[in-house]
Amino acid sequence: MLSARTIYGEIFDNDEAFRLFCSIAASGEAQGGWENGKISTLVPGSQADLAPKIARHGADEDKHGRIFTALLRKRGLEPVAVPPDADYTMRLEAAGIGLAHARLRREEQLTEADIVTYLAHSRVTEQRASEQLRALRTYAGDRADIARAVRVISHDEDNHLAYCHEELLRLAAAGHAPVIRATLRAAALAEIAIYRDVSLAVMAHLGRTLGWPRPKSAVLAAGIRGVYACERLGGWRRMVALRIPARRNALGGPVPARASHA
Ligand SMILES: [Fe+2]
Ligand SMILES: [Fe+2]
Repeated sequence: MLSARTIYGEIFDNDEAFRLFCSIAASGEAQGGWENGKISTLVPGSQADLAPKIARHGADEDKHGRIFTALLRKRGLEPVAVPPDADYTMRLEAAGIGLAHARLRREEQLTEADIVTYLAHSRVTEQRASEQLRALRTYAGDRADIARAVRVISHDEDNHLAYCHEELLRLAAAGHAPVIRATLRAAALAEIAIYRDVSLAVMAHLGRTLGWPRPKSAVLAAGIRGVYACERLGGWRRMVALRIPARRNALGGPVPARASHA
């Protein structure tokens, strides 16, 4: 039977597929860690209270990268290079979503408008991360190592999403509402197309690794395109809504010490 559960099961139970899956995940998390780490050091004075939260955000993403790498090492596997077509964070950056890496490398102080751009980008991508990790929690099943790792990451991604809602609402109340609305819309519409393309690329790579017959790959590709159609028709709006989160000040604690959690 062709279900998400059986597909994930195939990926988790095959060393090569698992290696690619975890390598892609680890690389995306590490990119997020780098971006947030850099941004936290460039926050303008008017937003100084955000700096430790952004640093915490970055530390969490770095931790997630290490967790995925640890899952690989536990199976005696080393990470592989991520195929460019499957690189979600780099494709978003190439599409002009979020702050350009070249800009961050220049080490110039950011503006309030840059902080809005960063938070809007995060609002959209953290929604995706939160949803994906919730799905992984369901599909990890009785694979104890994966289930434990995914539970830790999922909790953090929910915190990141709550933090984005809260900080964007604060900035909206401070007069940035029209820019926030426009930036969120642009980020969401770009993200859903990139997510579709990356999903198709990842499925194609995994399909070759797992030797999927052509009809199976075709059904999965049609499913990915169907998800995009639903998101384009209105699902994207869930990625731009802002509401006061149940969890307040979710990133308000100290930046966690570097440690392996897997
Ligand atoms: Fe993450
Ligand atoms: Fe996150």
